[in-house]
Amino acid sequence: MPPGFNIAIDGPAGSGKSTVARKLAQKLGLLYVDTGAMYRAVTYLVLKSGIDPADESAVTAFTQGLRFSLVRFLPKGVVDLWCNGEEVTPYLREPEVSRRVAEIAALRGVREHLVRCQRLFARKGGVVMEGRDIGTVVLPDSEYKFFLTAAPDVRLARREKELLADGRHFTKEELRREMNYRDEMDLKREIAPLKPASDAVVIDCTSLTVEEVVAKMLRICRGV
Ligand code: DC
Repeated sequence: MPPGFNIAIDGPAGSGKSTVARKLAQKLGLLYVDTGAMYRAVTYLVLKSGIDPADESAVTAFTQGLRFSLVRFLPKGVVDLWCNGEEVTPYLREPEVSRRVAEIAALRGVREHLVRCQRLFARKGGVVMEGRDIGTVVLPDSEYKFFLTAAPDVRLARREKELLADGRHFTKEELRREMNYRDEMDLKREIAPLKPASDAVVIDCTSLTVEEVVAKMLRICRGV
């Protein structure tokens, strides 16, 4: 593997990319960067500040004042997100944040600022960055690019497990509606819609375990 390389991982919610990205980063001793968490952090802070998420200029101005940092806990590979000196990780999966994040992530000014911050995290190499537009927009020159997919029911079941582990309560129907809405927003938005980079390796994770996906990625990165 070349020195100072980066790995870009994109895919829809529930494709398993967060778990896979975290494990891959751990195995390779790289920094794991969850860009969805950054969009969630903006949403949480906008809502907390009482700004109307539909007020594009207010949200953009507010976002431009946000500075992000990552605090890594070794050896478990846990990375906490801090924003302007506040640890935001515990609030990122609140139902209201999940409901409003796709709207905030569609705003040009928000995306421009976050993309700049994300590139700063990756400027020296050594990151596994996951999101929706990493291979296409944020790090188009990254050495390795993956796009993970999975069947809708499998994605829904994974999301359900994640949220239950987080102590969140909801009905399956609510979750399905929220996921469909966010998929739709992510796929159809004008700026940086979710799609695989032309040179990404697409992996269908429907019937693969996390370990199998990670092993496949490691083989590709190591060229074996
Ligand atoms: O991966 P996630 O569910 O935590 O992402 C939260 C939202 O942020 C989701 O609606 C997609 C959006 N997002 C994005 O637009 N671009 C990224 N690079 C990462 C996430």
